[in-house]
Amino acid sequence: MSASCADTMARALCAVLLVCVAAASAATLHARALNNRPVIGVLSQEVSPTVAGIYGNHSSYIAASYVKFLEGAGARVVPIMIAQNSSYYKDVVSRINGVLFPGGATYFDNQQGYADAGAILFSLAEQLNARGDYFPLWGTCLGFELITYLAAGRREHRAWCDSENEMLPLDFKPDFAESRLFKSASKEVIKILSTENVTPNFHHWCITEKNMTKFGLSEDWRVMSTNKDSDGFEFVSTIESRSRPFYATMFHPEKIGYEWKEKHRTPHDAHAVLTMQYFADFFVNEARKSSHKFSPNGEIELIYQYQPTYTGNRTIYQQLYFFNY
Ligand SMILES: *[C@@H]1O[C@H](CO)[C@@H](O)[C@H](O)[C@H]1NC(C)=O
Ligand SMILES: *[C@@H]1O[C@H](CO)[C@@H](O)[C@H](O)[C@H]1NC(C)=O
Ligand SMILES: *[C@@H]1O[C@H](CO)[C@@H](O)[C@H](O)[C@H]1NC(C)=O
Ligand SMILES: *[C@@H]1O[C@H](CO)[C@@H](O)[C@H](O)[C@H]1NC(C)=O
Repeated sequence: MSASCADTMARALCAVLLVCVAAASAATLHARALNNRPVIGVLSQEVSPTVAGIYGNHSSYIAASYVKFLEGAGARVVPIMIAQNSSYYKDVVSRINGVLFPGGATYFDNQQGYADAGAILFSLAEQLNARGDYFPLWGTCLGFELITYLAAGRREHRAWCDSENEMLPLDFKPDFAESRLFKSASKEVIKILSTENVTPNFHHWCITEKNMTKFGLSEDWRVMSTNKDSDGFEFVSTIESRSRPFYATMFHPEKIGYEWKEKHRTPHDAHAVLTMQYFADFFVNEARKSSHKFSPNGEIELIYQYQPTYTGNRTIYQQLYFFNY
């Protein structure tokens, strides 16, 4: 082997190595920028008097399906109590990487209830994002209604409608693929979402595009899809904020994998599960962009400290976590 050949080979090898080193350090940097131990707060809500009477008069609950939804995408969950002072919420938010407002059934004007706690959390999330501290929010069903209610300055703008136990494909807006929520979805996920009855709707309130405009929400909030209730009344089914990492769906992705009420038509087929997982992965990936550290209390406040109760034979939920505030 001539010296010049060895030289050429060495240089080529060296170039390859350099490329690999460069790629590896970019990957390391990227991995370091993400927080792969995300903790997401799930807001609890008031227990209805009937459910309370059966299970021991606890003050609040979280349906276990929301916990499983987030855990199944690689997050840990901390329950956020209602009826606390603002230092409690400020402290929690400084140590977690996002908040999920679950669906359910409660009133926005209950003193010290779900909406009052939600208002504090929403405003803290706005403040964090305004100063460049990435902090995502997700709302499902009642959580969607809570988000637009709060964004509208606590002004009621829901229309009464009927989409109870309706499984629907999304009617996507022409520019839906420009949204952050859908721009990275695979063709398969979009095809399933737009053609199959995979989005589980369970609501008697609807947010309309008309009221989003009327209540000043159209500028910041992008509507990616709409749907029609059983009477053909059109409602908004997915939204995201243009200025902050806030997202909401009117339907319940988490029920697909984790709720099994027989009278419900909730799909459990592989395509439906794929869409549930898409939404869970998306939101947990958003939380990975938040660098808050869940310390110094270790795991002590995480959901692992609580036992879910079997409620599948008396409520629409398989399991509930109960709390006394
Ligand atoms: C809940 O409170 C009501 C009214 O005080 C009482 O009648 C009921 O037995 C309680 N339920 C349980 C499970 O403790
Ligand atoms: C707020 O509530 C916490 C308990 O969650 C308590 O330890 C703290 O002293 C309260 N702070 C204020 C300012 O009332
Ligand atoms: C708009 O909001 C009002 C409440 O402020 C409600 O009564 C009405 O039904 C809503 N209309 C539509 C079209 O969403
Ligand atoms: C529901 O299941 C529980 C066991 O977890 C049982 O004690 C209770 O009697 C059941 N209730 C009904 C109405 O079937």
